[in-house]
Amino acid sequence: MTIVLGLESSCDDTAAAIVRLGDGGAEILSSVVYGQTALHADFGGVVPEIAARAHAEKIDLCVEEALTKAGLGLGAMDAIAVTSGPGLIGGVLSGVMCAKGLGAGAGLPVIGVNHLAGHALTPRLTDGLRFPYLMLLVSGGHCQFLIVEGPDRFRRLGGTIDDAPGEAFDKTAKLLGLPQPGGPAVEGEARLGDPARFAFPRPLLDREGCDMSFSGLKTALLRARDAVVAEKGGLTVQDRRDLCAGFQAAVADVLTEKSRRALARYRGAGAEEPAFAVAGGVAANTALRARLEGLCADTGIRFVAPPLALCTDNAAMIAWAGIEKLRAGAVDPADLVARPRWPL
Ligand code: KG4
Ligand code: ZN
Repeated sequence: MTIVLGLESSCDDTAAAIVRLGDGGAEILSSVVYGQTALHADFGGVVPEIAARAHAEKIDLCVEEALTKAGLGLGAMDAIAVTSGPGLIGGVLSGVMCAKGLGAGAGLPVIGVNHLAGHALTPRLTDGLRFPYLMLLVSGGHCQFLIVEGPDRFRRLGGTIDDAPGEAFDKTAKLLGLPQPGGPAVEGEARLGDPARFAFPRPLLDREGCDMSFSGLKTALLRARDAVVAEKGGLTVQDRRDLCAGFQAAVADVLTEKSRRALARYRGAGAEEPAFAVAGGVAANTALRARLEGLCADTGIRFVAPPLALCTDNAAMIAWAGIEKLRAGAVDPADLVARPRWPL
């Protein structure tokens, strides 16, 4: 049996969780997340200094709560896993310092985990996927296709060359006066809109491969909005819904077509139990999920979408990645460092 405490503080969520791997499989004993959305709401994005201070304030409390909820003491842990990058350096440092302090105090090994590896390995925790599987990681900060070949082996097939889709959803919401985070707000409006009224581009579909671009969509939305405002002097409720529907359809079209190409390349990897998994906040989008599910049904590949709380930032994924690394024999030295950049 292996029990690991995980810590996450790389963006705007402070989190701690305890995961146990036993004969009966993996189990999340506790998972605590303190989000900072309200702290950054007035600034239209995450402010690094505010985030760093909030992480430093909350991380000890998160650990305490995670231990209490699991009914365990630090002495019951086999190791502490911590996000050591990539991310906002102030936040990552809070987590790494906390993990090192706890590790030194309790005589526990500390394992540095790549945040993206945490997301990418989550379907093994939730659904027991076998390597290699295809992963689309799509959030506010990331967008990439990976073939996950092992706990520390990721083959990148392509990704965004500019904005991440979540960022585009958030900017779209801002341009239309909708609340943050923009994804759920835009999705809600889009449900009642006509996706065909405005013609949005499908960037990079004419280019081979799995690379994507989303910054042009934001510009297209701004132009379409301004054209309506110039004509009518403002936006009606239905204008807003139609703009959201058109934007969301363009994002879903691009991600679905690029997923089709990524699946074609993945099929060459010869997986015995082929699967396509999604992770990241944008994977919460119902319209996108339905499209990707349909694509997998057409191609006979299992589609896996972990529960939303494990798709967005959390520490259970970090504890799990720590267990995977521990099983592979990896423990980091005491001089483990925080890394703002760390490609998989
Ligand atoms: O993974 P996440 O919690 O944080 C990181 O970006 O790392 O993802 C947050 C992003 C935000 O940009 C948010 O607008 C987007 O995920 N999002 C959505 C939906 N729910 C959250 N985007 C589209 N549709 C949604 N339903
Ligand atoms: Zn993340």
